[in-house]
Amino acid sequence: MLISAIVAVSENNVIGRDGHLPWHLSADLKRFKAITTGHSIILGRKNYDDIGRPLPNRTNYVLTRNKDFQAPGCIVCSSLEQAIEAAKAAGETECFIIGGAAVYREAMPLVDKLYYTKVLSHVDGDVFFPEWVENFAKKSEEMVPADEKNDFPTLYQVWVREK
Ligand SMILES: NC(=O)c1ccc[n+]([C@@H]2O[C@H](COP(=O)([O-])OP(=O)(O)OC[C@H]3O[C@@H](n4cnc5c(N)ncnc54)[C@H](OP(=O)(O)O)[C@@H]3O)[C@@H](O)[C@H]2O)c1
Repeated sequence: MLISAIVAVSENNVIGRDGHLPWHLSADLKRFKAITTGHSIILGRKNYDDIGRPLPNRTNYVLTRNKDFQAPGCIVCSSLEQAIEAAKAAGETECFIIGGAAVYREAMPLVDKLYYTKVLSHVDGDVFFPEWVENFAKKSEEMVPADEKNDFPTLYQVWVREK
């Protein structure tokens, strides 16, 4: 099973502010949906709280250390390893780490493929993407301009870990 991560990151490494995404990027959300639909997604409890529901047509694994936490329509896991093993056991071919920052920090050393949207702006925020550049090679890049549905221009990049 491939372990992938998917994220949008500003030029100063911000990924969130006050528990939410700090931008509106309609094209990026569409791309996120197209890439992750039909697969397993692994997310932190705070990211789940922000989204507020399971994302449809995907198996949602929500990480929390709270034994009483309930997330209807999701599989609640008490560790990253538990979620990865469960996805593998279910026959998943590519699982997606979808954040937030705490989950990216722990998962990046395990990640084989990174779908990285570089948001071409400095943005105020309070959560950041971790350092990750070593051993990754850029496989593709595509520029998307800002418009009325996309706050900032972005670069869609795909990076793969070199064996
Ligand atoms: N730009 C992007 O692409 C992107 C993507 C996703 C999220 N975000 C942003 O990121 C922010 C949220 O990130 P965050 O770092 O604050 O929170 P988070 O990573 O979404 O969630 C953290 C919580 O997840 C649980 N958790 C994390 N690792 C765990 C583990 N190994 N085992 C068990 N439970 C674990 C814990 O929940 P409990 O406290 O319940 O134990 C922890 O408090 C938001 O602003 C969101 O909008 C941005």
